[in-house]
Amino acid sequence: MQLLTDAKALKGKIRIPGDKSISHRAIIFGSLAEGRTEVQGLLESQDVKATINAFRSLGVDIKKSDGKILIYGKGPKFKEPKEAILDMGNSGTSMRLIAGVLSAQDMSLRMIGDPSLSRRPMDRIAIPLNLMGAKIEGQGDRCLPALQIQGNKCLKPISYHLPVASAQVKSAILLAALQTKGETTIFEKEITRNHTEDMIKQFGGQISQVGKEIRLLGPQRLSGQKLLIPGDISSAAFWIVAALIIPNSELVLENVGINQTRTGILDVVREMGGQITYSKVDEVNKSATLRVSYSNLHGINISGEIIPRLIDELPIIALLASQAKGRTVISDAKELRLKETDRIKTVTRILRAMGVHIQAKEDGMIIDGGSELKAASIDCQLDHRIGMMTAIAALLVKDDHVNLEGAEAIQTSYPEFFKDLERVYYD
Ligand code: S3P
Repeated sequence: MQLLTDAKALKGKIRIPGDKSISHRAIIFGSLAEGRTEVQGLLESQDVKATINAFRSLGVDIKKSDGKILIYGKGPKFKEPKEAILDMGNSGTSMRLIAGVLSAQDMSLRMIGDPSLSRRPMDRIAIPLNLMGAKIEGQGDRCLPALQIQGNKCLKPISYHLPVASAQVKSAILLAALQTKGETTIFEKEITRNHTEDMIKQFGGQISQVGKEIRLLGPQRLSGQKLLIPGDISSAAFWIVAALIIPNSELVLENVGINQTRTGILDVVREMGGQITYSKVDEVNKSATLRVSYSNLHGINISGEIIPRLIDELPIIALLASQAKGRTVISDAKELRLKETDRIKTVTRILRAMGVHIQAKEDGMIIDGGSELKAASIDCQLDHRIGMMTAIAALLVKDDHVNLEGAEAIQTSYPEFFKDLERVYYD
C-alpha cells in the first residue's frame, strides 16, 4: 500500500484500543474460571481472535453482546476438540500461554502457526512445562512449531529460574501451576509485565511476589469476573512518537494503559526531553489520558532492567532516536531478535533504507539522530510493529512516495491504525 507522507502536523484525539496482552489473558482466565466473565474494552484483533478460537474449540462458549464479550468458563475442564489442531496464526502469546493451560489437561493436541510464528523458539516453554510432567515436542533444537502437546492432569510443581526475561514464559508456567498440586516458584531474570499475576488476583486466586520471586500454591479455583481492559501502551507508542517528531503536532491519547511494568517508553521520552502530560489517571484500571507535543529531543542510552518494560516499543523508539540530537544506544535487547521478525535486523534495514544512520549490535542498535527521512519501498515482513513504525516514519518523508508491503499484519494488534492516522493527519 502507499503510505501517507509529508505530514504538516498530527492533531486531535485518539482513543487507544484495548491492551493485547491483557485481552489474551481475559479470554484465558475467563475460560479457566467458573461462571460468567464479562469483558469490556477487549482488543478485537487477529491475535486475540486466535486465543478466542482456541478456547471455543476447547468447548468454551464465548460471545459478544452489547459491545461486551461474555465468556462462560469451564473451570477448567475443557473438552477435547474434534479437530485436534489449534491454529495460533501470528500470535506467540496465544501459543505460549495456551501451551501452559493445555499442559495440565488430559488431552493430546497439535498447535500450529503462520510462517513467522513457526520460526519462534518454543523450547523456552517446553523445558519448564516438560519438567512439570507435560510432553511438548517441536521441531529441532529450539522446539519450533508445530508443537505436539500431551497434557498431564497430575503435573508436579517446580522451582524455576527463568533464563530469559519473558512474561510469556512466566505466564505459561503460572497457568500450568494454577492446575498443579503444590507450590511452584519462579525466579524472574528481570521483572516483566505482570498482567497474569494481576489477573490471578482479580479472579480470586492467590499469588505472592517478593522482588523477582513469585510463588503460587495450586490448584486454585477461579471465579468469573467483570473486567475493563485499558488501552495498549504499545499501540499508543506509535502516536506518542509521531507527535514528538512531527513539527506542530499535538495529540491527546485517551485510555492509555499505565501499568508500571509497561511504561518504559514514558521514562525514555522524559529522559530524551519529550513533552508529555498526564490527566484522568484511573488508579484502579491503570489508565490515563496523555497529551504529547512536538519536542526537541536528545539521544540517551537505553539498557538494563528497563528493557522488558519497553521491549515491544524499541522499533518505534529507534525512529524517535533518529529525530533526536546526538546518539542513542540500545543494549541488552537481544530478545528483539526473537519477535515476529528479528527486529534488530528489520529495524536497521528499513530505517537505513529511509536514510537513518543506524547500526545493528548483537544486543541492540546505535542510532545517530538528525537524519532526514527519504522515500523507499519497504517490506515489513508481516511484522505488525515494523509496519506501523514504517507508516510513522513515512509521515516525515517530503514530496515522495513510500510503499509498504505486508501492511495487513497490522490487523494482528491494531486493526483501526490507518483510520486513526487519517483522522489526525494534516497535510
Ligand atoms: C507478551 C510478552 C512479551 C511481548 C509480547 C507480549 C505477553 O514477550 O514482547 O508482545 O503478553 O506476555 P516475551 O514474553 O517473549 O518477552
